[in-house]
Amino acid sequence: MKESPKNPVTLDTLVALCKRRGFIFQTAEIYGGLNGFYDFGHLGTLLKENIRQNWRNSLFNKKGEITFMEGSLIGPEAMWIASGHVQNFHDPMVDCMECKHRFRSDHIDLEKSCPNCGKKNWTEVRTFNMMFKTNIGAAEAHASTGYLRPETAQAIFVNFKNVLSTSRVKIPFGIAQIGKAFRNEITPKQFLFRMREFEQMEMEWFCKAEDAQEMFDFWRQKRLDFYHDLGLDKEKLRLRPHEKDELSHYSSQTDDVEYNFPFGWKELEGIAHRGNYDLTQHTKHAGKDLAVFDEQAKASYVPDVIECSVGSDRLLLTILFDSYKEDTIDGETRNYFAFKPSIAPIKAAFFPLSKKLEEPARAIFDDIRKVVPHIQFDVSGSIGKRYRRQDEIGTPLCFTYDFDSAESNTITVRDRNTTKQERIAIDEILPYIQKVLTS
Ligand code: GAP
Repeated sequence: MKESPKNPVTLDTLVALCKRRGFIFQTAEIYGGLNGFYDFGHLGTLLKENIRQNWRNSLFNKKGEITFMEGSLIGPEAMWIASGHVQNFHDPMVDCMECKHRFRSDHIDLEKSCPNCGKKNWTEVRTFNMMFKTNIGAAEAHASTGYLRPETAQAIFVNFKNVLSTSRVKIPFGIAQIGKAFRNEITPKQFLFRMREFEQMEMEWFCKAEDAQEMFDFWRQKRLDFYHDLGLDKEKLRLRPHEKDELSHYSSQTDDVEYNFPFGWKELEGIAHRGNYDLTQHTKHAGKDLAVFDEQAKASYVPDVIECSVGSDRLLLTILFDSYKEDTIDGETRNYFAFKPSIAPIKAAFFPLSKKLEEPARAIFDDIRKVVPHIQFDVSGSIGKRYRRQDEIGTPLCFTYDFDSAESNTITVRDRNTTKQERIAIDEILPYIQKVLTS
């Protein structure tokens, strides 16, 4: 008897599971760890790559082309002055004079006592620039200042003309990029939610100013649809427009896709109308014309930009929270990740029912692996234990080769979510997996 699944997940459950099963580890753990930094193990790496792939695919649309690029992680100071980050990329911080804990002053109530020590003795609120600064060049006297990028977007803006002149695209079109971003967050917290080194998936959509509102509405819906398609719980997703005083220095309108985490509704993705702020700033500061010539109007203009920006790590955390399920089978609790199959790190597992059947089962496994690389073979432990191990890492399908398989040329396949089993022809394994992966 199987009871319907529940989603009783906490942050602690996830952190422990991710470590135990090799999804995510704390950076330099053997040296005591580094606050706000995480390393990805085998399963975490595969999961993240699948997220990237789903994100790339989700951008294609009928309104215009999408091109891809990969920029440098470090940019010159002049570029970050032009973008406004040197002047504006600050967080307000406050210290508790008693316990020396540091907080973002907009995250706590300064009328109340310190959440850490319970006393009330605050310093003045000060601002803190979140960019990591570095010197470029060996001789310090001649070194120039660079910054690790706090967003991937600027690499797109400064390459706008390069892409336009080499890609045969016409406005409207998008430039998309996946890559690391770095922010010296005052209080990194909630595992992958707020990190100091993280990955962003950003797409800047270049359009005419008169079309910008329509494009903004188009992208905010398309981005919400992406999360529905990933299978995230619709009740836990919403779009929330920013209040005027929340807007970033470059934005005239922003909507966040928010997810209801165990610690509350929080931003998952930002969709921002950046106007022509960035291209205009880089035109001024670099002294290079970034305008486009409109053949119809016979005039130049600087395009507007609609930005869609989400953190890969934050989305990975969201997927872990959303997919974690517990149910009861014959009185025993099992936990599993109900990942959409295209997201699952391991697509299928193959088990011989007994060690004696290892050779023919492995021959099938080796054949399938030529086409579907991320599958596993497991001979150790009872079949029940092997199922549980795969459930816990979210593998959608398990194939068991038993004593009838050789003669009947069939194999048993078990579905992770329902635990239902059926027998299929061995020749049908590959199309069966491929069908599930595209469902
Ligand atoms: N280019 C626009 C931009 O960077 P943002 O709202 O600051 O906007 C975009 O960041 C997305 O990047 C967020 O919605 C979030 O998913 C992710 N993100 C931002 N800061 C992060 C952090 N410290 N750790 C993990 N993800 C972060």
